[in-house]
Parts: sequence; C-alpha cells; structure tokens
Amino acid sequence: MKEKGIKIAISGKGGVGKTTLASLLCHILSRKKSKVLAVDADPDANLGMALGFSSALLAQATTIAQDEKLIEERTGAVPGEFGGWFALNPFVEDIPEKYVVKQGNISLLQMGAKSTGGTGCACPQSILLKSLLNHLVVERDEAVIVDMEAGLEHLGRGTAEGVDAFIIVVEPGQRSFATARAVAKMAKDLSVQNVYVVVSKLHGVNPSSIKDELQDLNVIGFLPYKVEAVYADLQGKTIFDLCPDLVEEAAAILDRIDKELAEAIENSQV
Ligand SMILES: Nc1ncnc2c1ncn2[C@@H]1O[C@H](COP(=O)(O)OP(=O)(O)O)[C@@H](O)[C@H]1O
Ligand SMILES: [Mg+2]
Repeated sequence: MKEKGIKIAISGKGGVGKTTLASLLCHILSRKKSKVLAVDADPDANLGMALGFSSALLAQATTIAQDEKLIEERTGAVPGEFGGWFALNPFVEDIPEKYVVKQGNISLLQMGAKSTGGTGCACPQSILLKSLLNHLVVERDEAVIVDMEAGLEHLGRGTAEGVDAFIIVVEPGQRSFATARAVAKMAKDLSVQNVYVVVSKLHGVNPSSIKDELQDLNVIGFLPYKVEAVYADLQGKTIFDLCPDLVEEAAAILDRIDKELAEAIENSQV
C-alpha cells in the first residue's frame, strides 16, 4: 500500500477546513497502524488541538521557528541580526525526534512558520524551516501530513517534487476558489506532481455544479457541512470522535488518491 509513508501537503484559504482535513487524514492513517508525522506549518497553528492533544502536552512542544537557540545553533546566525554568514544547508535530521510530541501513532511537529509576505526571505529561520520540511517530505519513512497556509514560501522545489499528493481545500465560494487557483499555479510552478481539490463544508449546493465551476482543477472529493465539526471546535473535541461520517468521507478521498497514485506509477512504468 502506498499509504504507508505517503506525503500529503494541505493548503488553501484560511478557514476553509484544512486543519480539519489534516486531522482526519492523520487519524485515518494512524488507525491503519501507520506511523504519522503531523506537521503544523500554518502560522495560524492549531493542528495539535484538532488532533486532540492535551494542552499540557502541547505546552511541552517547542515551536521550531521560535527556538532562537536552535536556529542559531544550526545556521550559525543570530535571529534578527542582518548581515553576516549563515549555513544554507543546516543539519536537521535529528530535529523530528527531539521536538515532536506524541500521542499514539501520531507525532506532531510545530514549525511555527511565519509568512514573510511571499518574499521568500533567505533569513536563517526560513532556511531552517525549508530544510526541515524538505527532510520530512523527502527522507522520512512514516506518513507525513503537512498542514500549510495558502502561501507556499517554505516549500522548496525539491520538497514540492517529493509531495505525493497536494490537496487544496476549498469551501463553496468564489473567494476560496480564487485562492485555490493561485495556490495551484504556485504548486505547478514548483513542479508539484499531483494537485487535488477537496471541497469542504458542502451544503445546499449540487456537487456537480461545483465540479463544473472548478473544471480547471482536479476535484477529488467532497466533505459535507457537518454541525458536529462546529461542536468539535467549540467543545475542544476531535472531529474524528464526534463525526464518523466525515471520517468515512475522508477515508474514501484518501483511497481515491491512493488509487490515482498507484495508476500514475503504473503508467510511468509502461
Ligand atoms: N465539514 C465541515 N462542516 C462544518 N464546519 C466545518 C467543516 N470543516 C471545518 N469546519 C469548521 O470551520 C472552521 C475552520 O476549520 P479549520 O479546519 O480550522 O480551517 P483552516 O485550517 O482551513 O483554517 C472550524 O470552526 C471548523 O470546525
Ligand atoms: Mg488551520
């Protein structure tokens, strides 16, 4: 099964349901006994909460971008100080083991990525995050789910090519469609192989009309609007405990992605 070790990045406009989908995919993979590395690369970081990690556990988690000592140690540069030399290829291999917090099969790594407004800044912090993300996506054996923002500035070309499936989440609405198109273009420019769209919070609209609207993108599935998702967020519970329907829908999406990836591999070998 390709699922073991699958590398999935999730992007899209704020509030569309990225973290919800990321937590569902982590849960589905972990219940299949896969080891899962959940990477929170959204500056609006809350994947740990969505995964049901306790606040005590999350308090122990170090956020990489805020660890000035680590940044200095690995890049040789003092954060915030301009000029001077720093390593462009910092050692990152030991970071996952040292910095994750674990619950069952799921390990969470909080990157604390801060957007630099798309300037792709070459500051030490950004170099460390980029190198780390590259290591996670290209070299790790476990399944890796990356919860990202809409900007892809921490995704280098090599990392982008290592992502098996790049999911852009939209909700029914032109604003998130516009973000999705912009993200899809950035992904294409970075040579991401398989870009899919998941339509989240579907309610009162015909899925086929949305598919027609998004003809230029590969819509791989729909997640219905579920009031349990709102309760989960409100009550600090996990979506997978409160809403088995969404778990099954997300599992079907993962199966479809798996199948497409297997077919793509088969076709490339013909
Ligand atoms: N399928 C859904 N049905 C109803 N509400 C949802 C659904 N998915 C997400 N939500 C709600 O939308 C809000 C934003 O979701 P979240 O996953 O945090 O978005 P993002 O990570 O894209 O900012 C949360 O309050 C969440 O509970
Ligand atoms: Mg989020």
